[in-house]
Amino acid sequence: MPRAGVLTGGGDSPGINAALRSIVRFGEKHGVQTIGFLEGWKGPLENLARPLGVGDVSGLLHIGGTILRSSRTNPFNVEHGPERMIETLEINGIDFLVAIGGDDTLGVAHRLCEHGVHAIGIPQTIDNDIAMTDYSLGFSSALGVITDALDRLHTTAASHHRVLVVEVMGRDAGWLSLMGGVAGGADVILIPEETFDVDAVFRKVKSREMRKTRFSIIIVAEGAQPAGTSGQVVEEAEVDAFGHARLGGVGQYIANRLSERMRAPVRVTNLAYLQRGGSPSPFDRILATRFGAAAVEFALEGQSDVMTAIHGTRIVPVPLADALGTTRTVDPGLLYLVNLFE
Ligand code: F6P
Repeated sequence: MPRAGVLTGGGDSPGINAALRSIVRFGEKHGVQTIGFLEGWKGPLENLARPLGVGDVSGLLHIGGTILRSSRTNPFNVEHGPERMIETLEINGIDFLVAIGGDDTLGVAHRLCEHGVHAIGIPQTIDNDIAMTDYSLGFSSALGVITDALDRLHTTAASHHRVLVVEVMGRDAGWLSLMGGVAGGADVILIPEETFDVDAVFRKVKSREMRKTRFSIIIVAEGAQPAGTSGQVVEEAEVDAFGHARLGGVGQYIANRLSERMRAPVRVTNLAYLQRGGSPSPFDRILATRFGAAAVEFALEGQSDVMTAIHGTRIVPVPLADALGTTRTVDPGLLYLVNLFE
């Protein structure tokens, strides 16, 4: 009986549990037994393993988070990391590994393949910034949260004639701010792909005031960079095991500068981890189910070092090497949406 290992790494998002359910159920149907490794790559490093049967994944379709828990452990920063992981896979009789996560998690899977491990990736990040797939798991759900938040903020902004800044995730790609801004009717949209000028934001807000609309919603990606500054706004300069600083604060940066010039204070809402929690959207439930089954199918066909991807309506394997290392930024053909209603 073939044995699959599965782990979930990096920032979580709604839909991971649905993917686990699909891997286990589709696997059992095809004679595959699944072993879950806990806490991202820490699981294979420290042999934190637990068998996953159909009963363990029952009722998970609509539950956010990951029952395997997650971490940002980088096993290639740990002494004898690759050897320790390979030993764990051998101890557990793993024939192939499914890694669910973003660029960092999938990057480790790719490097492990170079050590002879058979691995398949499932792209998962609310940022939607993984190359070679139209969508990553979690993006649609986070977009739903942002849209709902903007709907709510609109009514209070209008009632109080207020300018509100909404900060959303999106380290290097503006999918969440652009699509969230369009879906939620934001008046100013700021994305990491283009530096922004606070004066230009001020002028937009003022021109709305002149047209007798005395409220504005500004949506900004955490990774958007003010023009003329040396980099992104960081909350903590200390970097994680993959070299990323914790972003945060660009919303407050904008609000402080606008407040100096406005009659009324400008308020900030940072949607932060609300975007990563809660139930997956119908789109993500379906994507997770299809990605999970495809990962097992690709492995059983003998494929390795590939990632499940959605191209149009089709699920296809793409080499991990092609997906990694390039950030999937917002399609230039969509940038017109930023200023559509100026
Ligand atoms: O999941 C990706 C992401 O949401 C990024 O947009 C964000 O910068 C990062 O995770 C923050 O995650 P954490 O605080 O868990 O490290």
